[in-house]
Amino acid sequence: MTANILDTLHFLGTNDRNKSLFESNWPLPYGISYNSYLFTDQKTALLDTIEYGSDRSYFEDVTRILDGRDLDFLVILHMEPDHAGMIGELLQRYPHTTVVTNARAVKLVELYFPDIDKDRIREVKEGDKLDLGHHILQFVMTPMVHWPESMMAYCITENILFSQDAFGTFGTLDGGIFDDEINLEYYKDEMLRYYTNIIGRFSPQVQKALQKAAALPIRIICPVHGPVWRTDPKVVFDWYSGWAASKGEKGVVLAYATMYGHTQRTADYIARKLAVNGIRNIRVFDVSKTHPSFILKEIWKYNGVILGSCSYNTGMHPNMQHLCHEIEIMQPGRKKVFLFGGYSWSGGGLKNLQLFAQNMQQRHQWEIISPGTELPGYPAMKDLEKMDQDIKAYTATL
Ligand code: FEO
Repeated sequence: MTANILDTLHFLGTNDRNKSLFESNWPLPYGISYNSYLFTDQKTALLDTIEYGSDRSYFEDVTRILDGRDLDFLVILHMEPDHAGMIGELLQRYPHTTVVTNARAVKLVELYFPDIDKDRIREVKEGDKLDLGHHILQFVMTPMVHWPESMMAYCITENILFSQDAFGTFGTLDGGIFDDEINLEYYKDEMLRYYTNIIGRFSPQVQKALQKAAALPIRIICPVHGPVWRTDPKVVFDWYSGWAASKGEKGVVLAYATMYGHTQRTADYIARKLAVNGIRNIRVFDVSKTHPSFILKEIWKYNGVILGSCSYNTGMHPNMQHLCHEIEIMQPGRKKVFLFGGYSWSGGGLKNLQLFAQNMQQRHQWEIISPGTELPGYPAMKDLEKMDQDIKAYTATL
């Protein structure tokens, strides 16, 4: 899959519709794309590659676009193997190519491709430039967006930002490659899921990177996943700025674990009361049906989180544990919290949710509005109604 961005700048990408889980963790119901970029200036330069084995035509495309020329530079912006996978084979095919990357990436190159001749690597640091003829690339260090070695390249001649994972998204490029060829709302949703699953925990570093980028005139953004933003890059820039700020709007994500529907009865009772109390953004999930990937995306949007778990072997249900683990890792910002549980024959679901929430309160400024109630068996209406005042008080804090 190729496209011309400029006469001397080419998109080379592939769609991966086979992989079920990105990083063996995050569902890919709509696939994902891997993008790289090739300059055919006075010097030729490839920026990043794609995942190994994801596209048999990748090297055919590189060869065709080079049209008999050698590849002068391979610029490595990010070493995660979904972009670095083809480096070894590329450098075998192009034995005269110089690798351009930063010192942290060099260490990862040595780990992942120990056979690469170190004399082929040119180290760059913040502000260094690579002159291709017409295009001059300047390097911007953006550590932890997404890995420690991550950096961006900015073409100061044409005002193009090569942003690697930043501004990337899940979802294949189904025909449209540029922002003026796609449905933006479709990609906005998948981009938020990508952000909250992959980059979100590094939001402070994302904000620093955005501050650096905001000082630059940017005409085109070229990320390594998803569309190229050539018409209005401010759209995606603004989306990212909002997500990195982690300021949820008024609303609640209610996630529950249930085995036989008892805890679900409590969940639906609470959700109904929220609506009656005036909350309009309410998203309810059964954690055994919906993967944390999708729940995290919704949690990022809103300022309220309600978690409820049946008791399972004296603890919380394992699928609720999975969600809590991902929340703790990805750090979706400050939240107002309400908890509840189902006692079963032991109790323990709520107690473990409380421990989780207390940890989030201490480390990530969550606010526990209600430590919750653990209802036995099939919740009686009189017991559900005892929560009414707490739900009302919680609603008032949102
Ligand atoms: Fe798309 Fe962090 O790799």
